Amino acid sequence: GVTPTEAPGAWLAGPPPATARAHASHKGCHGDLAIVGGEGLAARGMGMTGAALLAAGAALHGGAGRVMLALLDDGATAALPQQPELMLRRFEALALDRTTVVCGCGGGAAVAAVLPQVLQQAPRLVLDADALNAIAADAQLQALLRARGQRPGSATVLTPHPLEAARLLACGTPAVQTDRLAAARTLADRFGCTALLKGSGSVIATPGQPPRINPTGNALLATGGTGDVLAGLVGARLAAAPLADAMTAFDAASHACWLHGAAADRWPRGQALTAGRLAQALDC
Ligand code: APR
Ligand code: MG
Repeated sequence: GVTPTEAPGAWLAGPPPATARAHASHKGCHGDLAIVGGEGLAARGMGMTGAALLAAGAALHGGAGRVMLALLDDGATAALPQQPELMLRRFEALALDRTTVVCGCGGGAAVAAVLPQVLQQAPRLVLDADALNAIAADAQLQALLRARGQRPGSATVLTPHPLEAARLLACGTPAVQTDRLAAARTLADRFGCTALLKGSGSVIATPGQPPRINPTGNALLATGGTGDVLAGLVGARLAAAPLADAMTAFDAASHACWLHGAAADRWPRGQALTAGRLAQALDC
């Protein structure tokens, strides 16, 4: 169930401070990011390879130095559209201990098999969709997630939509939506990490801090794939941060959420906002 929140939420007041890239920096300075996902049925022409691709595209537009795509399906790569900036990797070939990981944008049941390694080894981690569902269904994965919160040098962000949050909290979606601040706080406290509860007025919570409420965004975002774009952008900001700790995770999630919504708020009237276009619009 969801417990009542003690601290009120604070509205995010404005965009994150702009950070200039150091003149002499190279791509390794801006963070290595791996998107771990894709769908186990892609070889048969079904599934969610697009979710991983959208997250990867958003990470590129969000300023990540190097973006790797590890699809959990050998057959999936054959169907990849052109995205020449991406580096395709087998999951086994990732240096998880040195890479920011975004896990669960697509992936289905295959995600559960890689999660123990990801949860134990990746210092900076964003967990979305299928990763969250796998964790909700498995007490051992929940224990591994909580253990991350005890380890110094780790930063973890959960990005559930209300149904995913309800599964993690073992309650119903109405209970989550009735008190979104409480739901986000409970998720953060229970799993010892940052929780970004999506939806109109996204809430970002982390243990020991008042939760934040994001004022940007609108119903143009209510289209498939925009959540994957957000996960990729959180990953890019996490990868670029100098330190990995709880505050880094809180800020990366808050700032990404603000920028993601602001891109939708700038979108011209009369033009459809697709998730792919949203990823490109993160640039400005
Ligand atoms: N106002 C502001 N933001 C919104 C609104 C709104 N009215 N509607 C949606 N959003 C934002 C959310 O805050 C979130 O950032 O759009 C994003 C939607 O993310 P998700 O709910 O994760 O949706 P996504 O994964 O892109 O696509 C839907 O999720 O449950 C699965 O199977 C389902 O394939 C479907 C997929
Ligand atoms: Mg989603």
